[in-house]
Amino acid sequence: MKTIIEPFKIKAIEPIRQTTVKEREAHLEEAGYNLFLVHARNVLIDLLSDSGTSAMSTEQWAALMRGDESYAGSESFYRMRRVVQNIFGFRHVIPAHQGRAAERILFSVMCKPGDVVPSNTHFDTTRANIEFVGARAVDLPIPEAADTQARLPFKGNMDVEALRKLIVEVTPARIPLIMVTVTNNSAGGQPVSMANLRAVRAAADEFGVPLYIDACRFAENAYFIKLREPGYECRTPKQIAQEMFSLGDGCTFSAKKDAFANIGGFLATNSDSLAELEKNLLILTEGFPTYGGLAGRDLEAIGVGLEEVLHEDYLQYRIASTGYLGRRIADHGVPIVEPPGAHAIYIDAGRMLPHIPRAQFPAQALVVELYRHAGIRSVEIGSVMFGENATHELVRLAIPRRVYTQSHIDYVVEAILEVNDRREKIRGLQMTYEAKFLRHFTARFRPAA
Ligand code: F0G
Repeated sequence: MKTIIEPFKIKAIEPIRQTTVKEREAHLEEAGYNLFLVHARNVLIDLLSDSGTSAMSTEQWAALMRGDESYAGSESFYRMRRVVQNIFGFRHVIPAHQGRAAERILFSVMCKPGDVVPSNTHFDTTRANIEFVGARAVDLPIPEAADTQARLPFKGNMDVEALRKLIVEVTPARIPLIMVTVTNNSAGGQPVSMANLRAVRAAADEFGVPLYIDACRFAENAYFIKLREPGYECRTPKQIAQEMFSLGDGCTFSAKKDAFANIGGFLATNSDSLAELEKNLLILTEGFPTYGGLAGRDLEAIGVGLEEVLHEDYLQYRIASTGYLGRRIADHGVPIVEPPGAHAIYIDAGRMLPHIPRAQFPAQALVVELYRHAGIRSVEIGSVMFGENATHELVRLAIPRRVYTQSHIDYVVEAILEVNDRREKIRGLQMTYEAKFLRHFTARFRPAA
């Protein structure tokens, strides 16, 4: 059967609200044409992020009641840690309120000014946290990743030759750690192969540098390995995930993605001495090491979510549903980052809107038009987000987990194709305000003259 069905049924519903084009035009003007500043109640289909937006399962909701809210030694922490250690295998598990809190603690402890942290591609908060401690974040994706149209199975891979060259050039003493992001969110949500992780591990061993995994979407990455990497067809997603993490010295994790939690994360490491420093820092800003800025019930939701995300029927549906959206629009002429990833589809707005110069933010212009036309909220990943460092002008349609049905996806397909039909009429934008860090969250625009 070809029909994609959700491997769950709906128990509680949340209404979404239609608005008119005229209303949305007013909301856009008020928000300075920045969709981060639009009220969610005025959004019909919210594809801004797959982070913290998942629908929890009945088991997760049930687990909330089990939450042990003890200040220290909460049973919920130990339950969550058992699940994490079973999948991730790291000795120390340090909870944090979300991924970037784990990043901040990791880089504060491991990096000093002048250090260099290579990655396949750093996510924006990762880069910002590295730069905040005076170190330099370097992206080393494989060269093929620059071609949005190339259909390779593992376009999220790191360029291992470039990694070796960089380590020799700056010397291992100035490289406190290597990061690998799975899947590679900033490079189109593309997966990283086990072979690539192994090759990065070999380089890390050769130079005595630790390897950390930014594990936000580890289950989606594991399922791509099962589908695409020879030798893994008969392995379970959990076995594949366990093998991935066996190659790392630790990880950062945002539970807001592949743990179906609305908040949470952790930092994990095999190093006793680092864990001690990290826990001391944790107490300063996040809280005691058995809750790390979370309620006991949040820890419960993460533990249950981590087990559910590795179910094959879920992962099969997840990848099929996102792939369906990508194929439907790409086969009708909308340029996307090929091949489709699992958590999002990325439209190559640079290609779609060649009449809008980079200085007028073509991807932001498309984000604005998708909202104006159909009430769909997406996010710019281009010059607004990365400034001069942007290599592409992309619009990300991130799909919240277990939230939207296939007919919602069909609506999105229809809307994008309608916008594409009159793409020549879309106008660029002019930035009127920007903040010093992570400017995309608060920037304001007006239609270009
Ligand atoms: N690493 C990656 C690869 C991410 O995608 C994110 C968040 C983080 C780290 C930080 O985690 O949000 O829990 O602090 N990505 C979200 C997104 C925000 O929309 O892609 P966080």
